Amino acid sequence: MDKMWAGRFAKALDKTADDFNSSLHFDCKMYKQDIIGSMAHAAMLCHKNIITKDDFKKISSTLSDILVDIESGNLSFDSDAEDIHMFVEAELTKRIGDTGKRLHTARSRNDQVAVDIRLYLRDKSNEIIKLLKNLLDVIVKKAEENADAIMPGYTHLQRAQPITFAHHIMAYAMMFKRDIERIEDAVKRMNVCPLGSCALAGTTYDTDRDFTAQKLGFSSISLNSIDGVSDRDFCVELLSAYATIMMHLSRFSEEIILWSSWEFKFIELDDSYTTGSSIMPQKKNPDIAELVRGKTGRVYGDLMAMLTVLKGIPLAYNKDMQEDKEAIFDAVDTVIQCLNVFPPMLSGATVLKDNMLKAAQKGFINATDLADYLTKKGLPFRSAYKISGQIVFECIEKNLTLETLSLEEYKAHSDLFESDVYTAIDLKVCVEKRTSKGGTSAASLKEQIDFIKSV
Ligand code: ARG
Repeated sequence: MDKMWAGRFAKALDKTADDFNSSLHFDCKMYKQDIIGSMAHAAMLCHKNIITKDDFKKISSTLSDILVDIESGNLSFDSDAEDIHMFVEAELTKRIGDTGKRLHTARSRNDQVAVDIRLYLRDKSNEIIKLLKNLLDVIVKKAEENADAIMPGYTHLQRAQPITFAHHIMAYAMMFKRDIERIEDAVKRMNVCPLGSCALAGTTYDTDRDFTAQKLGFSSISLNSIDGVSDRDFCVELLSAYATIMMHLSRFSEEIILWSSWEFKFIELDDSYTTGSSIMPQKKNPDIAELVRGKTGRVYGDLMAMLTVLKGIPLAYNKDMQEDKEAIFDAVDTVIQCLNVFPPMLSGATVLKDNMLKAAQKGFINATDLADYLTKKGLPFRSAYKISGQIVFECIEKNLTLETLSLEEYKAHSDLFESDVYTAIDLKVCVEKRTSKGGTSAASLKEQIDFIKSV
């Protein structure tokens, strides 16, 4: 088949070069956005009397038919069209002849593709936001069920202070909430219509760009035609937001992997989200969490690829920009896949509260509370801190815990100690007493849960 632009050439494009140049095998993903964009463009051409009503009706209904045929599998992307834009236009012309050839008036593939990617990313971003909201629901439910599950909180992966499992996982809820906001914010900036920028310089036709923008649900139009076709900032911004989601999922996955190990045994993943080994009969591996962690690298790679493609290209459109799509599609697909598999994995995990409590009882994680006890009795914090450290040292020597050290032994360090010290270092009390905003207390947890539920 002749290329649409064949007129200027004496020779056909070399076959290998043609295959190399073609993007149909991946940009066919945007068929719907391309057709919807074309319908809006045709409506504008009719509205401005650039094409007749009859032509518009024919174009519009045939584009609908093409959409139906693609979705029902009656029309496949097996032609040698260069890209999805050429594919749809060629199909339209095949069906309605010369009328189809009028569609590309006052338009270029450069502004067409800029619209298509925006529409695609807008759709996918909405889908990703929904999935993130579902993940928030799962986290909140798990937190509500485990509000009383005391576990050690860690710094440097060393037992630090008592917290609850609920408080721990609500930290992730805060991160995923910010991820939603990041996407919404980037979409707001992206939702500007470049259609009508044409190849790079606008057009001599009397078009109505606001008309098309409104039809396609954009909030405004781009004001510089060169920027309209050259801008891919929104791809960078969204890829960065997607990479951040993956970073959060990866940290959470890492903890799930640790917690599932015999060394921790804080949770037990459901059989349906784990796999066995081909040689070691006892194994139950957290493959799904590991894959989420592993796929994070892909999405980081997509972001880097996008930034690198853009860094050296002069204005306006250059074919390098065709490379944006595979990175975007890969990132979008990966994030969606991970957000589909992660929530049910988390929701199906059994929280082993007793093991968490046992771990919390070792490691002197109430030593800060011991120091605070002395401080509240009037000792300067630094002195209280020193005495508490000496008491921990003594306990290690004698193989005791702060709970099993006798009152006489306490008193040997300071006469400020009374029998109420045992209440002050009780793990439940330690958690409940942290009533500072954002702390581990039940009131704070409730505030956090209410906040996330309002998203
Ligand atoms: N397939 C192209 C892309 O994805 C569409 C734009 C082509 N424009 C051009 N002037 N060759 O970037």
